[in-house]
Amino acid sequence: MLTQVRRANDAATVTDAVAVLRRGGLVAFPTETVYGLGADALNPEAVIRVFEAKGRPADNPLIVHVASSRQARRFAATIPASAEILMDRFWPGPLTIVVERNDLVPDAVTAGLDTVALRVPRHPVTLALLEAFDGGLVGPSANRSGRPSPTRAEHVLHDLSGKIDFVIDGGPTTLGLESTVVDCTLSPPGILRKGSLTREEVEAVIGPLQKPDAAAHRRSPGTRHRHYAPRARVLITPAHDIERLTTTVKACTDRHETIGLLAHSPALCTIAGPVRVTPVSDPDDLARQLFQTFRDFDAAGVSTIIVEAVEETGIGATIMDRLRRAAEERT
Ligand code: TXA
Ligand code: MG
Repeated sequence: MLTQVRRANDAATVTDAVAVLRRGGLVAFPTETVYGLGADALNPEAVIRVFEAKGRPADNPLIVHVASSRQARRFAATIPASAEILMDRFWPGPLTIVVERNDLVPDAVTAGLDTVALRVPRHPVTLALLEAFDGGLVGPSANRSGRPSPTRAEHVLHDLSGKIDFVIDGGPTTLGLESTVVDCTLSPPGILRKGSLTREEVEAVIGPLQKPDAAAHRRSPGTRHRHYAPRARVLITPAHDIERLTTTVKACTDRHETIGLLAHSPALCTIAGPVRVTPVSDPDDLARQLFQTFRDFDAAGVSTIIVEAVEETGIGATIMDRLRRAAEERT
């Protein structure tokens, strides 16, 4: 299969993408978080092709992307009050809500769960696509399963060229980490996956959420699987700790490892040893650069990636979640 790459601002891109989706094809689209791999959510065969192209375990359900909260209602059995408030406040934006699903939604989408995840992304071309398609599109991150999520069309092509029909190139994404998944079937609602919308932002609108606990693991199948991993080994180093970084770098160079460093403290950025250094200015910048840097370091043949930790509040909590998953020992 030849994968067509089309610019977001070409007049015919949306029309042509809709035609591909209508015949059950796969279209990667940009969002404000990461690129998604779109297919008609009501076409089980198209949905199965999404799992195949990604190499995704069938027990990991997909988010249904829609143009508006009105469209979202088509897939829900009931919308709790908490979900109404969140949709109203944060859509379009990096929030995914989980609600009870109705019979319209194929089992392949929800991996047999009685809930469905819904999201309105904040990106002009993708909103135009969803409007024109006038339905729901499944949209897992458009990477091979387990790899870092794609923040550029090039990343999508690297992982999926020849396996999908169409890529809409909208340039680099603005946020760089996925949407926050909030389970609104719980009272109070709970975060199933940390994301670009912070816990603090959600709580400011609907009050305290469920305490983070092991139950979230059971309820969000995706978080069980290994994720976001570059080929290189990932090490997390404490913030501002130059001595600790020096020791780690020495241990790695003694083992003839090639080091890539992703850091925010000026002192750490200038340390000798790493072959590649990516300086970031603040946590938002780190969020934006993280997956891109993982991929760049892989391409440069780095064997160990050292990342300077950030404080675990706001977007920092999501960054540390992704770093820990990426750093998990391979089994
Ligand atoms: O930012 C994003 O959310 C991106 C863009 C493309 O929209 N999409 C994305 O999709 O990250 P994916 O498939 O890579 O991650 C979806 C997450 C997984 O952790 C999955 O387990 C969870 O959402 N999920 C989907 N449906 C669910 C459901 N019914 N109940 C609980 N968790 C669900
Ligand atoms: Mg993903």
